[in-house]
Amino acid sequence: MEWESFFEPYTQAVAELKVKLNYLSAQYQKAGEPTPVEYVTGRVKSQASIEEKIVRRHLHEDRLALDLQDIAGLRIMTKYIEDIYAVVELLRKRTDFTILEERDYVMNAKPSGYRSYHMVIEYPVSLLDGEHKVLAEIQIRTLAMNFWATIEHDLRYKHGEISPEMAEELTEISNQTFSLEQEFSEIKAKD
Ligand code: GTP
Ligand code: MG
Repeated sequence: MEWESFFEPYTQAVAELKVKLNYLSAQYQKAGEPTPVEYVTGRVKSQASIEEKIVRRHLHEDRLALDLQDIAGLRIMTKYIEDIYAVVELLRKRTDFTILEERDYVMNAKPSGYRSYHMVIEYPVSLLDGEHKVLAEIQIRTLAMNFWATIEHDLRYKHGEISPEMAEELTEISNQTFSLEQEFSEIKAKD
């Protein structure tokens, strides 16, 4: 596996998309309007974690670009739940990539309690040898959803597997957090 050339279009895609998505927020600020985008992060999946997934999911090296949709990953954080859908609308209007899949884990949380809006896009990058279309996963979530996912991820790593009791607690915390977020939105709608 020639990793260096494999990663090249993904590294480029993440760098370009980070600039573009951050600029969404800059445009609102310039117009003096509240931005639905709080901040953006991006990362390319590490070789180690790709190799781990190849083994765990019995993937074929020739099909990685198709089977792993999140080698290029972008995350957009918002303050309010409704901002997630404002961002989704903004992304649907763009012409610089094609949306292949959308999954709403905001209103339909995963059994773990995980909430986020997922989009898989096909994004063209131009390299010296021509155009490469790469898949990228964009996760759109509130600050609170990001907080929950970060802690849950940390606990899962620390404990290896999460016990059923702990899993239940985490799901409960996710639901409580979501209720608080809905209250924030109600307060915001009043002012
Ligand atoms: P399926 O593959 O159909 O389940 O949906 P998906 O591809 O949208 O989600 P997947 O489970 O593949 O997860 C994609 C990414 O979402 C992961 O790499 C994580 O970043 C995030 N994610 C999904 N589920 C959880 C979860 O339970 N906890 C945390 N912390 N993150 C999750
Ligand atoms: Mg998946």
